[in-house]
Amino acid sequence: MESRRLAALLSSIISQLLLLIFLLFPSDSNSNYTPNVFPLLRHFLSCQEIAASLSLASISRKRKRASSPEPESEPVDEDPEGIVLPRSPDSFKDCFKMTASTFEWLSGLLEPLLECRDPIELFPLNLSAGVRLGIGLFRLANGSDYEEISKRFGVSESVTRFCVKQLCRVLCTNFRFWVAFPNPNELGSVSQGFESLSGLPNCCGVIDCARFKVVNTENSREDCIAAQIVVDSSWRILSIAAGFHGHKSNSRILKSSTLYKDIEEGKLLNSSPIHVNGVSINQYLIGDAEYPLLPWLMVPFVETLPGSIEGNFNASHELMRLSALRTVSSLKNWGVLSRPIQEELKMAVAYIGACSILHNSLLMREDFSALSGGFEDYQFHHQSETDNRLEDNIITRNALVIRSTLATRAKNIRDP
Ligand SMILES: *[C@@H]1O[C@H](CO)[C@@H](O)[C@H](O)[C@H]1NC(C)=O
Ligand SMILES: *[C@@H]1O[C@H](CO)[C@@H](O)[C@H](O)[C@H]1NC(C)=O
Ligand SMILES: *[C@@H]1O[C@H](CO)[C@@H](O)[C@H](O)[C@H]1NC(C)=O
Repeated sequence: MESRRLAALLSSIISQLLLLIFLLFPSDSNSNYTPNVFPLLRHFLSCQEIAASLSLASISRKRKRASSPEPESEPVDEDPEGIVLPRSPDSFKDCFKMTASTFEWLSGLLEPLLECRDPIELFPLNLSAGVRLGIGLFRLANGSDYEEISKRFGVSESVTRFCVKQLCRVLCTNFRFWVAFPNPNELGSVSQGFESLSGLPNCCGVIDCARFKVVNTENSREDCIAAQIVVDSSWRILSIAAGFHGHKSNSRILKSSTLYKDIEEGKLLNSSPIHVNGVSINQYLIGDAEYPLLPWLMVPFVETLPGSIEGNFNASHELMRLSALRTVSSLKNWGVLSRPIQEELKMAVAYIGACSILHNSLLMREDFSALSGGFEDYQFHHQSETDNRLEDNIITRNALVIRSTLATRAKNIRDP
C-alpha cells in the first residue's frame, strides 16, 4: 500500500517535470504545429491545473502521432490505447466536465476541424487543437465570460470568442449525428430499456422541454428559449430541437416541431405494432400531463386510486420520466447553461446544441463526469398553460384504449 502510494507520488513528480520540459522546450519541430508556449506558460502560473491538463494532452498526442514504438522508459500510466493519463484526473472534470481520456479523444477527433478556417484578422493563429478545444470547452463547462477566459488562457478576447464559436460550429454541424434519432433496430434496445424499468412495452422515449434564460448583452433584454428533447432510459438524447419561444406551452412547442410532423406522417416510430391483449400498440413516447394524449404519446391518468392499474401506470410513467429530468438537469449543469446566457439568441441555441452533443458523446464513452446526480434545479411541474383537454374523437379514443391496455402491463412499483 505504502509503496504504491510512493510510486504514484514519484510518477506525479516526474510528470510535472515532463510538463515543465514541454512548456520550456517545445520539442515539436513540425512546422504546421507551433505551440503558443508563452500564453500556456503564463496560464500555467495562473491556473496550474488547466495548463497541466492541456499540455499533457498535447504531449501524449504528439507521442501518438510519432507512433514510433520507442521503448517506454518514463513511468507514466498508460491506458490500453497508449494514451498518457494525467496525474490529477479531477482537474479535467473540474475544468471541462470530462475525463482526461475523453478530452484526448475529442481533441484528436476535432483537430482537423478546429484548426481550419482561422479568420484572416487572427491569422496565423498559433494554437494547438488541444488549446483551442480547452478554451471552447472551458466556456461551455464553466460558463465564465470571455474576458475571464482570455486572462486565464493568455489569449486575446477575440481569439477566445473565435475558439468558442468554432467549437460550437464544429460540434453542431459535423457531429450532429450524435443526437440523431435512432434507427428502427436501435429503437428496439431503447424500448427494452424502458420495459425492464417499468414493464411498459414499446416505449421509444420520454419527451420534455428545457427552458433557458438568455440575456441580450446589448440591450439587457431577457428572453427565454425552450429546447424540446426526447431521451432514452440511459439519459441519451435521441432528439433535440432548440430555439422555441420559452413562454409557449410544451404542447404548442411539440405541435410546431419537426418531430411532431415526422411522427404524424409516419416517418418516425413506424415499426410494426406489438399486440397486448388483442390491442395493437405502435411505438410511442411518454410525456407529462402538459402534453396531449395521442396514440403515440402517453400521458399520465389524471385521477387514479393508488394500487389501481391506472395508479401503477402513473407510477411507471413517473419512473420513466426521471431519465428526462436527469438529462435536463445535466444539461443545466454545463456552466454556460446554468445561468442566464449572455449572448445573442443564435449563439445561445448553439450552446444548447453543443452541450447536448457533448452530453451524448460522453455517455457513448461511458464518461459520466457531466451527469447530474439529482434533479434539484429542475421544476418537476413546470407552470404554464396546459393543453390536455380530451377531445372526444376517434384518435383520442384510440389513445385511451392503448393507455388502458398498457396500464395492465405496468409494474407495481409502489408495493411490489
Ligand atoms: C505565429 O507564428 C508565426 C511564425 O510561425 C509568426 O510569424 C507569427 O507572428 C505568430 N503569430 C502570433 C499571433 O503569435
Ligand atoms: C468556474 O471556474 C471557477 C474558477 O476555477 C470556479 O470557482 C467555478 O466554480 C467554476 N464554475 C463552474 C460552473 O464550474
Ligand atoms: C398518477 O397517479 C398517481 C397515483 O395514483 C397520482 O398520485 C398522481 O396524481 C397521478 N398523476 C397525475 C399527473 O395525474
